[in-house]
Amino acid sequence: MRIFDIINKKKHGKVLTDTEIKYVVDGFVQGEIADYQMAAMLMAIWFKGMNDHELAVLTQAMAKSGDMIDLSAIAGKKVDKHSTGGVGDKTTLIIAPIVAACGGKVAKMSGRGLGHTGGTIDKMEAIPGMKTALDKEEFFAIVNKLGAAVIGQTGNLAPADKKIYALRDVTATVDSIPLIASSIMSKKLAAGSDCILLDVKTGSGAFMKTLDDSIELAQKMVNIGENSGKKTVAMITDMDVPLGHAIGNSLEIIEVVKTLQGQGPQDLTEVCLQLAANMLYLIDKGSLEHCRKIAENSIKDGSAFKRFVAMVEAQGGDTTVLLDTDKFVSAPYKQAVIAQNDGYIVKMDAEECGVVSMILGAGRETKDSIIDFSAGIIINKKYGDFVKKGDELAILYTSKQAALPEAQRLYNEAIVIGKEKPVDIPLVFARVE
Ligand code: URA
Repeated sequence: MRIFDIINKKKHGKVLTDTEIKYVVDGFVQGEIADYQMAAMLMAIWFKGMNDHELAVLTQAMAKSGDMIDLSAIAGKKVDKHSTGGVGDKTTLIIAPIVAACGGKVAKMSGRGLGHTGGTIDKMEAIPGMKTALDKEEFFAIVNKLGAAVIGQTGNLAPADKKIYALRDVTATVDSIPLIASSIMSKKLAAGSDCILLDVKTGSGAFMKTLDDSIELAQKMVNIGENSGKKTVAMITDMDVPLGHAIGNSLEIIEVVKTLQGQGPQDLTEVCLQLAANMLYLIDKGSLEHCRKIAENSIKDGSAFKRFVAMVEAQGGDTTVLLDTDKFVSAPYKQAVIAQNDGYIVKMDAEECGVVSMILGAGRETKDSIIDFSAGIIINKKYGDFVKKGDELAILYTSKQAALPEAQRLYNEAIVIGKEKPVDIPLVFARVE
């Protein structure tokens, strides 16, 4: 077998055999296939794509290039969740305790934020003492006892993806839906859960900017999951507008607490209930309607919040800040952003809001940036709201006073105020299974 022939075959749009695909992935990981040959292969896939079977074989080969986590020590069906990332997306920390309170098992590995998107692990670390690196035994023990634990990625998950992504990044091949689907799903297959719920964000603050692309990505990922023996569902949810009213790590944890106590923003609560219901549905807790009902009840009867507190305690976190959120250290500087005109908010650019939050110190510009947990934004007026000139659109929080003028200017630019009430944007656009 020669890599030259395989590249040539894909260049002409032909279907690769399982053996050829495995040869490419293994050869590249082992250093037998050069970067320039792999780059040509990736570009051929960019132009010609892969069918569902090829994609499943590619993804499985990428998953098997490193550790395949064995979750069999955790009793019952395990359900994972993946979000393609957004602004104000704190859903994992709300959904995991809901699913756990309803009898599900969530052994979740999450990531850190980079650029305008936040990461669940950073948000968790805003809780003093919270450990996000646990050894396998401790992680499994917490999930067995409480039904959920969330930690940072451990082990050597899908090293082929890491190596391929680094090459895609410098060869203009990141924006290929098949390559994105295989990249995300290789890590999900390696993470070992039985079922996978995908939250594919769509809109200005998302990786996928259009609904058509989001649906295509969702369908490809669902097909990879199903063709790899994992029950998989994808929800396409909005990320044109930030989710909830808080952006920034401590501020988002406070919003998580409110939502689990039944006092969260309507958009965040609704998205979380739909995602949680689908996770419960995947692990056979009943019809979607029933799963929605038990998810709602877990908020009403306080069991989901109790589970969150227990999970934080088990991971070493200080639960007093959850029981009294005024105990979170607050940012030394705050500044209101004021509406310049009367009218409706007709646009609220989620990506720009994420950039503002990053400038304030809540996100990372580079991998080595230090996060200010107290920094961020509380949004007072959202898309569709009527505002009067002089109203407070948002409050910016930071430890860097010098960042405030630019952050304020950019936040004003992210908001467009118009005369006509804009059409409602759905929170959930589609469900793919
Ligand atoms: N996220 C991933 O993990 N991989 C991609 O290719 C794009 C986004």
